Amino acid sequence: MADAAAQAAVEAAITSRRSIRAFLPKPVPQADVEHLLDVAARAPSGSNIQPWKVHALTGAPLKRLCDALMAEHASGITPDSEYQYYPRKFFEPFHSRRRKVGWDLYGLLGIGKGENERMRAQHGRNLIFFGAPVGLIFTIHRELEQGSWLDYGMFLQNVMVAARGMGLDTCPQAAFMPYHRTIQTMLEIPPEEMLVCGMALGYAVPDAVENGLVTERAPAREFARFAGWGD
Ligand SMILES: Cc1cc2nc3c(=O)[nH]c(=O)nc-3n(C[C@H](O)[C@H](O)[C@H](O)COP(=O)(O)O)c2cc1C
Repeated sequence: MADAAAQAAVEAAITSRRSIRAFLPKPVPQADVEHLLDVAARAPSGSNIQPWKVHALTGAPLKRLCDALMAEHASGITPDSEYQYYPRKFFEPFHSRRRKVGWDLYGLLGIGKGENERMRAQHGRNLIFFGAPVGLIFTIHRELEQGSWLDYGMFLQNVMVAARGMGLDTCPQAAFMPYHRTIQTMLEIPPEEMLVCGMALGYAVPDAVENGLVTERAPAREFARFAGWGD
């Protein structure tokens, strides 16, 4: 039986999720983070193997990690990632979509083409989780296969959607990937685990310009083919 209120609540949680890039310093209690992760862990996984592992940081441990990452960023050396998230060479339609979101964000921030230092500084804000009071670092056992990465994506999406239900915002972050060695050492992540991504978690600064970014999506009619309805 269709339940309009349930539909509205679920759709609101999904569609109100946006990547937030400026957070208030307001703390998030451990119990809330734990609850969020318990809810997110209801994600399905093939044979229920639950491949996710999370390091949730706040306060001094978060600051220590951010300081180390910022120091590495300042050195100007960007070491290699452990795995390839993006294609080595972008192609259409992905190239244009990527460019658009980048320029839309920089446009809001008043960063023009060629302002490389400002772009680099904005990118560097990733490494302090955009000022969020909670930083999440996600790892996976390196012997797990592509299927488990699929499961992992569902878990990550659950974290972000469940956060909305709690009035919290997030930004999933691949920007940590080149810093995996520092993260692995500082968080004492065992060698069999590898970094998947990071995520900022907290309360959005409501009037921050960068939080005004609303990204586009191609409609279902463009990426799906429907068969059988007209028969
Ligand atoms: C796995 C993953 C990694 C991402 N990494 C970053 C990142 O490092 N920094 C960032 O600002 N946004 C990052 N994003 C956010 C995307 O840019 C964003 O999801 C996309 O532009 C769509 O916008 P929306 O999340 O506001 O709907 C990432 C998203 C995903 C799913």
